Amino acid sequence: MGKDLRYVVVSLPGEPATGGADAPKDSPWLRHSACAYVGLRPAMAQHTAEEHAALKKWAAGMKCVVEIGVAEGVSALALREGMAEDATLYLIDPFHLSRLPILNFIKRVARRTVNESRHGKVVWIEKFSQDVAKDWKESIDLILIDGDHAEPAVERDWQEWSGFVRPGGTVIFHDARVFEKGWTTPDYGPVKLVNRLFRNGGVAGWTIAEEIHSLFIARRNK
Ligand SMILES: C[S@@+](CC[C@H](N)C(=O)[O-])C[C@H]1O[C@@H](n2cnc3c(N)ncnc32)[C@H](O)[C@@H]1O
Repeated sequence: MGKDLRYVVVSLPGEPATGGADAPKDSPWLRHSACAYVGLRPAMAQHTAEEHAALKKWAAGMKCVVEIGVAEGVSALALREGMAEDATLYLIDPFHLSRLPILNFIKRVARRTVNESRHGKVVWIEKFSQDVAKDWKESIDLILIDGDHAEPAVERDWQEWSGFVRPGGTVIFHDARVFEKGWTTPDYGPVKLVNRLFRNGGVAGWTIAEEIHSLFIARRNK
């Protein structure tokens, strides 16, 4: 694995692994975020290279960008690299899944990953999205929904956050499409929600903007 590799993205069956033969997926113990923290592996994305490029592209020029569900921070890095120089990136994740909460290596790796870019400002919000939504006031240019994947939880994020997206702004769902050689199935919560909301007549005031791998991107009509 190259020492200069900052992160690895998900490679689909038949594609070369970005991390080489010793990529984390081949060694279960390497998956622990402590291994990324001490430099045994790069940060692990949970998305493909195409999805990474799409996140960066959709963040371009955006000034208020929100991500629900940060994990090791690679999608947040894509958003930060793409967004405007004077933008603010709000990163919402309670980081409650750490097996060593005192050390919380996931959070430490996320912070380091996101700091690979110096674009704009980053605000870390270590809470559940549903708790943050209660007091939210800002108009949002782009929000990536990638937190709790249970269908009711994704629906709650959509209902509680989409109203803050300005006309012309964007909502991106991750793990929300079944695609060739991909990991998603029709049972995934985000897939079920997006199909239910957007595929049968659509959502009033919203237009499907792009679909790439597991990403489903919708824009609020102007
Ligand atoms: C699929 S991972 C995110 C992957 C990340 N966006 C990426 O592409 O690398 C899901 C994350 O959501 C967080 N999470 C779970 N429930 C949440 C909630 N209700 N609000 C915010 N974050 C949540 C978890 O702690 C976990 O880090």
